[in-house]
Amino acid sequence: MKLLLVAGARPNFMKIASIVTALDAHNRSARDRIDYLLIHTGQHYDEKMSQTFFRELELPRPEVDLEVGSGSHAVQTAEIMKRFEPVLMKERPDAVLVVGDVNSTIACALVASKIVYTDQERTGRARPLIVHVEAGLRSRDWSMPEEINRVVTDSLADILFVTEQDAVRNLRQEGIPRQRIHLIGNTMVDTLLHHRARAERSSILLRLGLETSDARGTTAKMPYGVVTLHRPSNVDDSTVFRGILAALLTIGGKLPLIFPTHPRTFSRIREFGLASQCRMLGMEDHITDVKAGVYCIEPLGYLDFLRLMSNARIVLTDSGGIQEETTVLGVPCVTLRNNTERPVTVTQGTNVVVGTSPRKIVQAATKKLRESVRPRKPKFWDGKAGERIVAILRNARSGRR
Ligand code: UD1
Repeated sequence: MKLLLVAGARPNFMKIASIVTALDAHNRSARDRIDYLLIHTGQHYDEKMSQTFFRELELPRPEVDLEVGSGSHAVQTAEIMKRFEPVLMKERPDAVLVVGDVNSTIACALVASKIVYTDQERTGRARPLIVHVEAGLRSRDWSMPEEINRVVTDSLADILFVTEQDAVRNLRQEGIPRQRIHLIGNTMVDTLLHHRARAERSSILLRLGLETSDARGTTAKMPYGVVTLHRPSNVDDSTVFRGILAALLTIGGKLPLIFPTHPRTFSRIREFGLASQCRMLGMEDHITDVKAGVYCIEPLGYLDFLRLMSNARIVLTDSGGIQEETTVLGVPCVTLRNNTERPVTVTQGTNVVVGTSPRKIVQAATKKLRESVRPRKPKFWDGKAGERIVAILRNARSGRR
């Protein structure tokens, strides 16, 4: 079997890493090899948003980099499609595997769904199977580009790998046949569990001045929180963003907040004239005297971020993946959105969804900081999702459904 793996944006890399590890393990011992090629669309292209993750997660160099870069949704999606089609025609894989809900996901699934292999008599296959990892998540919020990407990708997919039971229900309600849906767990959690011990050796806390060690090697950690924000609905609207920042400054008045800042968010901070309210730190700056405040730093690599998040008293975020990671780590999470497509992180995890009202954010954070939480593992979030995917792919057959 020949498989094309597609990754394009930062959260894709962690999801693909565990599948690559499982494929390599399978290919070392089994006779029915699954040959794979990794395709990077180039949706994220910075050292800090992309290359660092390939190095740290020990991902192979992508066979092809489509180098699409940034653009409006239409331009970015169309550009990926244009550049992916010839790759597909040349490589003629048996299956195309896409992950998550970013523009790269929908673009490559759409290309694979319409391609026609001309000598299908020889291969017995009209087009590649479309495999979607992290299928079935629904926020029911159609203003989110990711929701559109999820629904369209799932309607095109032949094999849908699902992280939580609610997602199975969502897909069944949309008429997706049960035999296409597989609850296999969470590949992002596989990667977290795999790299957790390595991440504990990251020096990020020392570098930021959040950990000190004396001459006898005794270390002390300061309490702090972590913030991530990048959703257009939160950062592109100046009123919403100002409100969120006001809440963060209130919380940051008591507990320093470390804010690895996404490029989009960084641009908005500058554009809206908010830079003076945050403390801007270069990676060479040490906080020698941690005072209260909101500290903006560059986006972090995987291991540094995992260490920072694991030791935080609280995380405030609008990311999807971080809601899941904090659940497994047992770190309280406050989600600055009106909904979540990952309800298991609320019902079984450490997450609370509060919206963007400054008062509610402060209230929720204050409450969460008083509670004691413990790590939780929803069904199959056990580090073996990648292996389950490979076991099912081995038996996958036939192109058309
Ligand atoms: C994308 C995904 C989102 C995911 C997020 C993680 C879509 C629709 N959205 O949003 O689901 O949670 O990635 O980060 O696919 N930029 C850089 N350097 C980079 C990448 C981007 O400076 O390496 C800048 C771009 O120029 C652009 C902005 O960041 O101005 C946004 O990038 P884009 O890929 O359009 O979307 P994200 O907001 O990152």
